Amino acid sequence: MVQSTENPVRECAAALVDAIGRCGNDVDRLRQAFKAPMARLMARPDLLSMGIPRQGNNVAFSQYLYYDGQLSILLYQVPKDKPIPAHDHGIWETVFVYRGRLKHVVYQRMDDGTKPGFADLKPVDDRVLEQGDMALVAPPHDIHSFTGLTDETFGITVVNGAYKPDRHYYNPTEKTYQVKGQLNAR
Ligand SMILES: [Fe+2]
Repeated sequence: MVQSTENPVRECAAALVDAIGRCGNDVDRLRQAFKAPMARLMARPDLLSMGIPRQGNNVAFSQYLYYDGQLSILLYQVPKDKPIPAHDHGIWETVFVYRGRLKHVVYQRMDDGTKPGFADLKPVDDRVLEQGDMALVAPPHDIHSFTGLTDETFGITVVNGAYKPDRHYYNPTEKTYQVKGQLNAR
């Protein structure tokens, strides 16, 4: 493990890299291993001033707290009452609540994926995440949507590696999806 650096973001990133090395893709272990270093990071009141701006899809505020070519730690505002559409990733992804609270829904895809443009999604986990809470979604259940419930809701996403190139954005009500390969939001 990389030694402490007195840089809170780097220190957290080192702990996450260590956890990923120990846990691989065992998402239950990853959830546990991420808790302590992310809690230490989120205890910092000054994260909003520590990042580098990035292009977000639906949000005015989106920053890189950390990027090393593989591991990303992203900090972004989650709009109030404006759902981030259901989408997949192809890899695991976490959502931590740094400020405020949000509604987070995980979906299971019920169809076999053979009909272009059609997707039948069933909500399998629908909950409110409070400040400090986290969710980790991973294939084959890596479809989620979320919505800010407060004016100042900020999320932190940790992702290890590149999203799949043909990401899907779903409309569960219409049972449709669109492929948006170039988008890199959460
Ligand atoms: Fe996501």
